[in-house]
Amino acid sequence: MKKRRPAPRKRAGRRARPSRTMLAAMAALALEARERAHAPYSRFRVGAALKTRTGEIVTGCNIENASYGLSMCAERVAVFKAVSEGLDDFDVIAVVADSKRITPPCGPCRQILWEYCGDVLVHMTDLKGRSRTMRLAELLPMPFDGGHL
Ligand code: THU
Repeated sequence: MKKRRPAPRKRAGRRARPSRTMLAAMAALALEARERAHAPYSRFRVGAALKTRTGEIVTGCNIENASYGLSMCAERVAVFKAVSEGLDDFDVIAVVADSKRITPPCGPCRQILWEYCGDVLVHMTDLKGRSRTMRLAELLPMPFDGGHL
């Protein structure tokens, strides 16, 4: 019998939008995580903080390797840590990096976020405190997911 492949979680967005205070607190945690980045090759340090609706927050930082392709982005570290801890139902990810233009998640991270977090809010901040908040569906229009298989 053909097994149904799981579609990504789409729960994000159904309830109230997180407050500015919550977003700022998450950016602060992402900034703290950024301090732990292992980025000796690019020197581009990134921090992330991922939140469940029930308030658990898991952080991540980018971790690079001398075999460059094995490096991992901060967002994916946070998602994989959270999923491996059995967490789900995520509503926000905060991302902090130091760049002239606000740093959004890269393409592969958008795909990973879609699969495990659905249409989360992506709160992006730079070191000057400028921020921008977008839904993942805006960053990844027409996503590919398990529903296509
Ligand atoms: N990086 C992230 O961790 N997240 C992003 O959103 C963009 C890029 C990392 C990957 C690599 O370690 C460094 O930044 C430069 O690309």
